[in-house]
Amino acid sequence: MIPYGKHDISGDDIDAVVDVLENHFLTQGSKVPEFEKALCDYTNAHFCTAVNSATSGLHVACLAAGVTQGDIVWTTPNSFVASANCALYCSAQVDFVDMDEQTRNIDITKLGAKLRDAKQAGLLPKALVIVHFAGFSCDMQAIADLLSGLDIVLIEDAAHGLGGSYNGLKIGSCEYSDMAVLSFHPVKSITTAEGGAVLTNNSELAKKILLFAKHGVTRDHALFDTDATEPSLAGDWYYQQLTLGYNYRLSDMQAALGISQLKRLDDFVVARQQKANFYFQALANLPLILPLKTSIDNQSAWHIFVVELKVTDDASNPGQTRKAIYRKLVEKGIGVNVHYLPIHLHPFYQNLGFEYGDFPCSENYYHRAITLPLYPSLTQQQQQTVVDALTEILV
Ligand SMILES: Cc1ncc(COP(=O)(O)O)c(C=O)c1O
Repeated sequence: MIPYGKHDISGDDIDAVVDVLENHFLTQGSKVPEFEKALCDYTNAHFCTAVNSATSGLHVACLAAGVTQGDIVWTTPNSFVASANCALYCSAQVDFVDMDEQTRNIDITKLGAKLRDAKQAGLLPKALVIVHFAGFSCDMQAIADLLSGLDIVLIEDAAHGLGGSYNGLKIGSCEYSDMAVLSFHPVKSITTAEGGAVLTNNSELAKKILLFAKHGVTRDHALFDTDATEPSLAGDWYYQQLTLGYNYRLSDMQAALGISQLKRLDDFVVARQQKANFYFQALANLPLILPLKTSIDNQSAWHIFVVELKVTDDASNPGQTRKAIYRKLVEKGIGVNVHYLPIHLHPFYQNLGFEYGDFPCSENYYHRAITLPLYPSLTQQQQQTVVDALTEILV
């Protein structure tokens, strides 16, 4: 079976982890800060907090944004559930802006219209979580322009995006946003097994992110609550819990793997780009809608390669539905996947009141989407097997 995504671990990666196991602290040592600095150097963001997943990162980003009960957070349905769940963790409500059928990212026109309506109704969201779907950046300038003058915190769910760029800036630079959240899950651009990071250029947000990700506890004297009696008596052991935080820390073992993987990131992205180019050429004449091609300045990280069939799940020929084509590919050893069942169609979100038909573009896309294998070590022969299988099934 050729999987749809796969990590790539080298001898150096293994040595880096073994070195921590043999010689260093397993957690709370020097490797996490070193990884955080390396991520800042790579993305050009000013502050970075490593966390144990992007899901945790999205949660602390919402907490740092001040999202709480009574607030609304908007995101897009074409994403993994974590992009929306983060708002619910903070007891806020979620709403969605449909996707754009070309970029598969948030629809900028619909976002503008929804913002105008919400402003009139006094129901603007506290935060907007945008997703760089498949590693292709949202139009950050356009989104920042729409949010200008509105008190809305912009959070990039950049789980797919590390290694990609927008207007020549690395995804994660936070040039246009308040925070960006990365994922280091094994199918992502680099891996720490589980893991993630929250980036920001805002020092106040950075302090809050750190606090929420580490039990709400600080040893930083500058942050101490001086009304508490203890500080005047305090020795070097002293720390304070200032808010309700979580244990979302990444371990030093994982950070060591992340540091080593990050050195290989640019090679990974080049390899992914080359494989995407192969698909663009080899699939050009099949009845498929291919992803948008990207340019040097707007380089996709190519986390996934999603093709859209020109038939849907309810096509009149039952042998040629998406479901049937998907199954035939799996039978031929191709580990395809579907990204994504729109978030609002999950039973949990339907129970919150969302309905089929609410976000038609994401729904139409979902019924036609199939994710093909794409990862750095995928060979040309394996890619040809995928192309041959698709050709045989579709033509
Ligand atoms: C868009 C998006 N956001 C968030 C996440 C959550 O990432 P993690 O598995 O690191 O929690 C994922 C994971 O697949 C994702 O695809």
